[in-house]
Amino acid sequence: MLEKMKETALFLEQRIKIKPEVAIVLGSGLGGLVKDIIVDTEINYKDIPNFPVSTVQGHKGTLMFGTLNNVPVMVMNGRFHYYEGNGMKTLTFPIFVMHQMGIKKVILSNAAGGMNPTFKVSDIMIIKDHINMMANNPLMGPNDDTLGPRFPDMSEAYSKRIIKLAMKVGEKFNIPLQKGIYMGVTGPCFETPAEYRMFHIMGADAVGMSTVPETIAARYLGMEVFALSVITDLGLIDAVEQASHEEVLHAAEKAEPKMVKLVYELLPQL
Ligand code: HPA
Repeated sequence: MLEKMKETALFLEQRIKIKPEVAIVLGSGLGGLVKDIIVDTEINYKDIPNFPVSTVQGHKGTLMFGTLNNVPVMVMNGRFHYYEGNGMKTLTFPIFVMHQMGIKKVILSNAAGGMNPTFKVSDIMIIKDHINMMANNPLMGPNDDTLGPRFPDMSEAYSKRIIKLAMKVGEKFNIPLQKGIYMGVTGPCFETPAEYRMFHIMGADAVGMSTVPETIAARYLGMEVFALSVITDLGLIDAVEQASHEEVLHAAEKAEPKMVKLVYELLPQL
C-alpha cells in the first residue's frame, strides 16, 4: 500500500508545477467549481497508476491541479463510491495519495437526502459530525504505524475551526447554511420510509452514500476535514418523496452557485 501511494504521488508530482495545499473532492453535480480553477494539469484517472476508475453518471473522472482564488489545489472531479464495488481501501486511496503529497486539508462535498424537517431541497448543510452505517471501515487490516494510529481519535472528525470560518463566509455573502449530522450508508438503493425514519431517530439530519470513508482516512492521516452536503431530496417522517438520480442531479445543480461561492471564498482563509 505504502509503495503504491508513493509511486502514485511521485507520478503526479512529476507532472505538476504547483504544490497543492488543499484537496477538494467534488460530489454529484457540484462540478461548477471546475470552471473557476486556473488549471495547471488535468489527468484522467485511468492514466494514473494505481488509481481506481469512476463509473457513476454525472461524475467525471479527472484529477485537476491548479489554483482556485489563488490557492494551489488538487481537485478530484469525480469520486469513488462503495456501491460501485470498490473496496474501502481502494476508494480512499486518493486520500492517502493527497497525504503523501503533503496536503493537510481536504474539502469533501456530496448529495444527501434530508431528514431534518427544517430542511428544504437544495439547502446546503455543513457536516458537523457523521454516523458510519456502512458496516465497514477503510482502516481494517494491519496498521502501518508510520501513517497513523491503530485506534484513531474521531472526537472532531470535521474541523470546528473551518466550520466557524465557513459560517462567517456564509453570513458575509448571504449564503444560507444548515448544520447537521450525516449518516453514511452503502447505497445504491435510496432509503425506505422506515429507514429514513430510523436514521432520523438515531440522530442524523441527512443520509448519503459517500464521504464517511474519506473522512475516516483523512482524520487517520491527521488531515483537517471540511464537508458539505447538498440536500437533494427529502425523507421526512411520514412524507417521504420518491427519489431518483435525475432529481438528485437537478437539485444539486440548483445549489451549485451558492456552494461554489462558499468554497471559493473560504479557500484563501484556510
Ligand atoms: N439517500 C441516500 N443517498 C442520497 C440520497 C438519499 O436520499 N440523496 C442523495 N444521495
